[in-house]
Amino acid sequence: MGTTEEFDRVVERRGTGAIKWDAVDASFGGQDLLPMWIADMDFPAPPRVREALSARVEQGVYGYSRLSPAYYDAVIRWMDRRHRIHVEPSWICFAAGVVSALGIAVQAVSEPGDDILIPSPVYGPFYKAAEDFGRRAVSVPLARDGLDYRFDLAALEEAVGPRTRALMLCSPHNPVGRVWERPELEELARFCRVHGLAVIADEIHSDLVFRPHTSFLGLDPEMDARTILCTAPTKTFNLAGIQDSNIIIPDAALRRRYKAIAAKSHAMPSAFAEAAVTAAYDQSEDWLEALLAYLAGNIDLFCGTIRRELPQLRVQAPQGTYLVWVDCSGLGLEPDALQRFLVEECRLALSDGRDFGPDGAGFVRVNLACPRSMVEECLRRLKAHLR
Ligand SMILES: Cc1ncc(COP(=O)(O)O)c(C=O)c1O
Repeated sequence: MGTTEEFDRVVERRGTGAIKWDAVDASFGGQDLLPMWIADMDFPAPPRVREALSARVEQGVYGYSRLSPAYYDAVIRWMDRRHRIHVEPSWICFAAGVVSALGIAVQAVSEPGDDILIPSPVYGPFYKAAEDFGRRAVSVPLARDGLDYRFDLAALEEAVGPRTRALMLCSPHNPVGRVWERPELEELARFCRVHGLAVIADEIHSDLVFRPHTSFLGLDPEMDARTILCTAPTKTFNLAGIQDSNIIIPDAALRRRYKAIAAKSHAMPSAFAEAAVTAAYDQSEDWLEALLAYLAGNIDLFCGTIRRELPQLRVQAPQGTYLVWVDCSGLGLEPDALQRFLVEECRLALSDGRDFGPDGAGFVRVNLACPRSMVEECLRRLKAHLR
């Protein structure tokens, strides 16, 4: 399950509606671009998942669906086995996607006009989740030493005001690739407890790690009651199009508020979620281990080549995620000119650092969850135009 040859195999995604491939030229205004932007993988889902989905398709009736106790058991066992967190079935709220859940979570923990702290740079929809619902997204830059990022507790203290209600945490961190260590998270939890803040913890990348991940849940009992933990099997097993995530809320009152808001959007599980997710969590752990080894190979190749041959760019291997945050400031290009250079000359579609907040200017994020030949092609194009 999950051999190097399988991950090496190039699967044609063009013409399947894949945003990464079918929307790339229009989104970047280029032609024949190599798409290494939006965060899904170019690998087929694990074999057991494909078998379970085939059986579900074959059954033939795709009506309104609910998730069974077997689904919740699979989620709970996974959280216990991989992340050593205890979850009760009643704590799990279905959401089609984590992005939609972020907006619901913001509404559950604050009122219009309130402030939400967002350590930045970070995944762009964090800011929108606050602003779309009339909250103020208060961006607090992470402290940075070269490409080493950490929380800036002093800056967070300074940013807290009378209307600050919550902090949005990305763990592991997209785009800077940090897997936060327990003491850093404990310090953050203490800060949030002292200021009475809720935490919306997006841990969607928590299975894609090269060092142990510590969940925000279980660090501090008082904070557990004020945490909305966003998890999903979709990044881990490449199931984003299945639209399934599990929002874990231990506190009953907070959960009621969350569910009352979520109910207004009438989202319900797809007919394919249960089959895919139980096969993923119950039967595909060995595939995940093989995936992580393959991703580590891609990351080594990409970061090693840049360090040796393209000193104008600066990279650091991510501790988690398959995303590499590349500092392009050494090229001396303004952000618009940088994107034009990448698109028009290199024919590469890489996420613009500004999508992650203003402090992302001069950076790009590269998605390495693809066959190695694509990583090699990306490096070839960069070398051809940068040497
Ligand atoms: C931190 C983070 N949260 C959420 C998402 C998307 O979640 P979903 O597809 O469940 O809406 C992504 C996708 O890149 C992400 O990086």
